[in-house]
Amino acid sequence: MIGRRCELLSISILLLIVPRAAAQDSPDSVCRKCHEQIYDSYERTPMARASGDATEGFLPGEFLHHESGIEYRLFLRHKEVWLSYDRPQGKGAMNLGGEQRLVYYIGSGHRGRTYLFERNGFWFESPVNWYSKALLWDMNPKSLDAKEMPFTLQVDSTCLHCHTSGAAMSLPGSRNHFADAPFAEGGITCESCHGNASAHLAQNGRGPILNPASLTGSRRDSICLQCHLEAEVAVNQPGRSLNSYRPGDDLFEDVRFFVHRGEIGSGRRATSQWEALLQSACYRKSAGRMTCMTCHDPHSDPPPKERVQYFRNKCLTCHGSSAFVTQHHPQQPDCTLCHMAREKTENVAHEQVTDHFIVKRPSAWLATETSHDEELVAVGGAEVSNRDLALAYAQSAIGGNVSASVRGRELLEKAEKQEYKNPAAPQDRPPQDADLHAKLGYLELVSGDISAAAREYELALAMDPSDSIAAANLAVIRAKDRQLPAAVQLWRVVAQEDPAQTGAGYNLALGECMLGDPNSAIQDLNRVIAFSPDNQKAKELMIQLQATPQLCTAQASQHH
Ligand code: HEC
Ligand code: HEC
Ligand code: HEC
Ligand code: HEC
Ligand code: HEC
Ligand code: HEC
Ligand code: HEC
Repeated sequence: MIGRRCELLSISILLLIVPRAAAQDSPDSVCRKCHEQIYDSYERTPMARASGDATEGFLPGEFLHHESGIEYRLFLRHKEVWLSYDRPQGKGAMNLGGEQRLVYYIGSGHRGRTYLFERNGFWFESPVNWYSKALLWDMNPKSLDAKEMPFTLQVDSTCLHCHTSGAAMSLPGSRNHFADAPFAEGGITCESCHGNASAHLAQNGRGPILNPASLTGSRRDSICLQCHLEAEVAVNQPGRSLNSYRPGDDLFEDVRFFVHRGEIGSGRRATSQWEALLQSACYRKSAGRMTCMTCHDPHSDPPPKERVQYFRNKCLTCHGSSAFVTQHHPQQPDCTLCHMAREKTENVAHEQVTDHFIVKRPSAWLATETSHDEELVAVGGAEVSNRDLALAYAQSAIGGNVSASVRGRELLEKAEKQEYKNPAAPQDRPPQDADLHAKLGYLELVSGDISAAAREYELALAMDPSDSIAAANLAVIRAKDRQLPAAVQLWRVVAQEDPAQTGAGYNLALGECMLGDPNSAIQDLNRVIAFSPDNQKAKELMIQLQATPQLCTAQASQHH
């Protein structure tokens, strides 16, 4: 074991210095002719290499995941990256074996790397990740304790927006179904921050192009925050999303971000640098002058040797005139060591983050508990509508925060009433906010008001028939209401359009069986298993149905 790690160590140095393989044909290479220095230094940053072809810097490996008893192997075959999974017979769960090609990577390898794969046009994240610090392959951080192989981790447009360039929008009906390639270009390209460059290029560099330095306030900050802010809950504005944001826009017109009041951003969650910075004395007392660019050069990372001096100089642009500051701790030039400590994060993918809170006394800071109230507030204290706050609570509830569901329901019911009395449209116009009704449907469902839930889901689906989560839940309500054919009809559409909802696929098979149709049930279970090969529940039902299809006929006579 130790031997293998040492071997990996020597190879992994290669991984870190492998240049972006597609550099020559990257759309950014046209910029090099005139902006050579920026281009060359940017190419070396983790952002430029945030994603790409799975073969780039790939290292083969294998490991046994004890919790699930599955052996994973990663290897190259015909210049493609493949994952094989294997659970021999008699290891607790049912046996499993198969292979999957991995197409792209996400994560420069600076800290970690995950992989994307495709099945029938649907895109998923691999169950296993490469951990660059530990130099090993292991389960995806979301699945460390999984008893079954997680094979339906959806890769949606939002994920792609932050990690790739030219992210495609998913087809209606699911979050991870793409008509073609899921994104146009690996890595974060110049256009991610500078917007469309065609006018600039058409006139040989004399045409206009966005320079973020010409922006102010939240339009300026949005350039980085479009990818570096997730908060606890993000609420899309009606008809908008992260993917509708373009450089130069105000991100907060597309998405509103919420955190729990008193919640400490940095150190507890990745991509929270902004939340932390907003609370720092440096930010609060420098009258809007402080941005991400105050300390970071978007086109380059300081080389390790210059890093301490680089950041120290940044601090001293504001603190350089204070004799106390320039003279305290002369033996330690690294200001960040004390004032911007590094700490392990809760979400493992992001391993360690630099505290952007910039506190005076780091030791006291690191000891603070994450105690915070249940109240959700907008990041930066922005004004928010009742609807946005209501949806924030609803989303928090869906994320598993039980106490948020009561507050969410209350606020959503209020927002629903307001929807009819929109001052901009005084006549009683029909509701248009599908998201509002779908979320309210969910909260009514968990509160036990089934008929209210059904009404909300019907409204949501009338406005947005492609909301497969609403459809799947409405189907459950129909089934409970003894309207099995209607339920089966809904589940059928969901299973077709959103196969990652394996629960809906399973319910569909069960429903078909109860309606006396074992053949359809078996066919639909096959689809569930095709997407989720280790789905024990589906496999058990399959064995039952294959052995005794007459079970279904018996069920049917009972049902009628
Ligand atoms: C709002 C933007 C955003 C979304 C959405 C998002 N990420 Fe990230 N992710 C980031 C940023 C920014 C970082 C780097 C964070 C840091 O270093 O603090 C990161 C870090 C990572 C890393 C570690 C990379 C490394 O080398 O350190 C992986 C792997 C990753 N994300 C995978 C994913 C996957 C897979 C999804 C979607 C299923 C996703 N992320 C969704 C913004 C996002
Ligand atoms: C992560 C965002 C980001 C990416 C990616 C990016 N830039 Fe920039 N760029 C900026 C920001 C922000 C500024 C303004 C810097 C400032 O405030 O001084 C800028 C400024 C510039 C300028 C103005 C002159 C200068 O020296 O500052 C040029 C030219 C430029 N970028 C070219 C490029 C090229 C070429 C690429 C791709 C190889 C690229 N940028 C990629 C964010 C980015
Ligand atoms: C044929 C030469 C040429 C090419 C190719 C070119 N640029 Fe430029 N670019 C210029 C010149 C000239 C300027 C203006 C002078 C300066 O400030 O450098 C400029 C300015 C800029 C600015 C600052 C604009 C402003 O208003 O301050 C940005 C940003 C920029 N370029 C980005 C890019 C990106 C991104 C690409 C590739 C997609 C690119 N350029 C390709 C020549 C070019
Ligand atoms: C389109 C999405 C996107 C935009 C826009 C963006 N970033 Fe990033 N950034 C990322 C991702 C993804 C990573 C993680 C890259 C990786 O390691 O895989 C990252 C990593 C970083 C890092 C860490 C680099 C390291 O050494 O680990 C810094 C610093 C950073 N970004 C600063 C900025 C700044 C400043 C801006 C605005 C000028 C910006 N980013 C805009 C997506 C983005
Ligand atoms: C844009 C200007 C600016 C930059 C850059 C800046 N600061 Fe500050 N910082 C301030 C201001 C203004 C204050 C408040 C000073 C006061 O209250 O007298 C402050 C306060 C502080 C405090 C006291 C915090 C507290 O809670 O009282 C520390 C510590 C600090 N800065 C460290 C740093 C370090 C370390 C860096 C570099 C990583 C840095 N600052 C960069 C402007 C800046
Ligand atoms: C006062 C200076 C300062 C400001 C302002 C600042 N950063 Fe940082 N940031 C740092 C330092 C120092 C590091 C650690 C870099 C290192 O160790 O190489 C860092 C690291 C990072 C990293 C790498 C991951 C991590 O947490 O270590 C990301 C991503 C990042 N910053 C994003 C941002 C974004 C986005 C903004 C604006 C919201 C921002 N930073 C504003 C100083 C700053
Ligand atoms: C070895 C740890 C350490 C290093 C290195 C360090 N500081 Fe400090 N700094 C402290 C401590 C501890 C305090 C609190 C002092 C107090 O309250 O008596 C402090 C206080 C401060 C303050 C607040 C001063 C005030 O008026 O209250 C600022 C600003 C500051 N440091 C900036 C910096 C900058 C900039 C650097 C790098 C040039 C730096 N520090 C390097 C530990 C450090």
